[in-house]
Amino acid sequence: MGSDPGRRIAVLISGRGSNLQALIDAIAEQRLHATIAVVIANRPDAQGLDRARAAGIEALTIEHRAFASRTLFEEALVRELRERQVSLVCLAGFMRLLGPAFLDAFPNAILNVHPSLLPAFPGVDAQRQAWQYGVKVAGATVHLVNGELDGGPIVTQASVPVLEHDTPDMLAARILVEEHRIYPEAVSIMLDGQHEVQGRRLVRKPR
Ligand code: GAR
Repeated sequence: MGSDPGRRIAVLISGRGSNLQALIDAIAEQRLHATIAVVIANRPDAQGLDRARAAGIEALTIEHRAFASRTLFEEALVRELRERQVSLVCLAGFMRLLGPAFLDAFPNAILNVHPSLLPAFPGVDAQRQAWQYGVKVAGATVHLVNGELDGGPIVTQASVPVLEHDTPDMLAARILVEEHRIYPEAVSIMLDGQHEVQGRRLVRKPR
């Protein structure tokens, strides 16, 4: 297979793919020791597919709309991931909620990056939610995925200030820089396996 079997990851996307790019770059720069075995988009127009192909990574589209149910869609995803012996699934702007057919196939092995300091502002447009609420500190979270929306144990977080004259777009750009920094770090933490999930808490074991 040509790569460390315990370090084969998949990245699931729906759009732009800048977090995918951050993972590709971290691997190229050897800040992250992993192989992206496959990138899967649920939309054929996801820009991230081109980023994957440009990096020589297999890129597939599995359109959720082509399936009669969420379960059937998720079973198709799981089949592709199992075929490629993936041990960690990274959601990177993947805008579908995942149910038991997917979650049970990868227990404690699905990560998501979210543009807020969870548990504040789950769901869509988190940066605008934070801006509208008027918080003075915002940020990004990488967390394990469970059945709750943006709800699983937190792996890493980073904060950014909300500045007086920010627009939601300016704030989102500042948060995105942190997403790109912490996502590869979180993937490393998971692949290194020196952690334990204790209830809601992901605890790193002392070295
Ligand atoms: C990122 O900001 C990510 O945190 C967010 O979508 C964007 C995807 O950008 N995800 C969520 O809001 C998930 N709830 P990208 O396609 O350029 O990585």
